[in-house]
Amino acid sequence: MLDFKSRVFLAPMAGITDLPMRSIVSSLGCGTMVSEMVAINSIHYKNPKSYKIADVGSENYPVVVQLLGNEPALFAEVVPFVEELGAHSLDINMGCPVKKITGNNMGSALMKDISLAAKIVSAVVKKSRLNVSVKFRKGWDKNSVNAVEFAKMCEDNGAAYITIHGRTRSDFYSGAADWDIIKEVKNSVKIPVVGNGDVDSHIKAKQMIDYTGVDAVMVGRAALGSPWIIPQIHEYLEHGTLPASLKAQEIKDILFRHIESLIDFYGEKMAVPLSRKYVCWYCKNLYDAKRFRERYNKLDKYEDAVNEINCYFNGIEE
Ligand SMILES: Cc1cc2nc3c(=O)[nH]c(=O)nc-3n(C[C@H](O)[C@H](O)[C@H](O)COP(=O)(O)O)c2cc1C
Repeated sequence: MLDFKSRVFLAPMAGITDLPMRSIVSSLGCGTMVSEMVAINSIHYKNPKSYKIADVGSENYPVVVQLLGNEPALFAEVVPFVEELGAHSLDINMGCPVKKITGNNMGSALMKDISLAAKIVSAVVKKSRLNVSVKFRKGWDKNSVNAVEFAKMCEDNGAAYITIHGRTRSDFYSGAADWDIIKEVKNSVKIPVVGNGDVDSHIKAKQMIDYTGVDAVMVGRAALGSPWIIPQIHEYLEHGTLPASLKAQEIKDILFRHIESLIDFYGEKMAVPLSRKYVCWYCKNLYDAKRFRERYNKLDKYEDAVNEINCYFNGIEE
């Protein structure tokens, strides 16, 4: 059994699923939060930025903290620090496709070295008092699909659950996610399985659960600019409630709360430039957003950002 209130996970997304994003999602309803990946060697070297990512203790909902690295002993060394910072449970990143990461034998490169991956899972499980999970892909490329073997390795080494993204490393994020491999993985282990890849609506979430039998779903890109999708899917799966579409003014309120939270967390100087990508995403389906986005992308001050957002949203007829 998964020990979370929701079987809808907000996917870990570097540079996105930080405290402001998680707090917005959780303020809108139920969902299970995962942090951005945090490199264990940066924790080891006491990098303040990494500590900030792992510091989830002030959040009033459980946060899974995702760790990235490739040295079993170093994982074991940093686990107590990460636990102290308030993680609800720990996840190990074995799916990141980025060259800078795989080139250092981390992320999805670990799918090519299953014995090292096993040592890592075992080291973290032995050291941690928390549940430990692993997030991985279908395999490295289409000629080396090994998700089933990998899932069994995780189970044998004590993982409490696993998350499988139905793409290979070579796929990166393109093409359709392979739900058949997710189903095969689900059928090959007894621990709970979280399915990931292309869940972008309540209907897709239900379809994935029905088709693959997974215990939970994880939603990534569909939550960009639509944080409400996580609680909406939760409500649909648990109670059959159909999601209502949000009015532009409601979107504006959520966007403002998100930006204010970015300011609290990062300070105004960093937050306003950081908010540009969110503004683009929040407006993706709104009327005449192109010119607004172009103007917004040139702003640095919160006061100007507020004016620009108000001006744009107040001009939208509901
Ligand atoms: C911008 C971005 C950053 C990501 N960062 C991470 C990460 O830090 N850790 C991780 O395990 N996966 C990361 N992912 C992968 C997502 O967690 C997820 O597996 C992927 O987006 C597929 O799900 P989706 O089809 O619902 O988007 C990232 C994806 C995106 C788009």
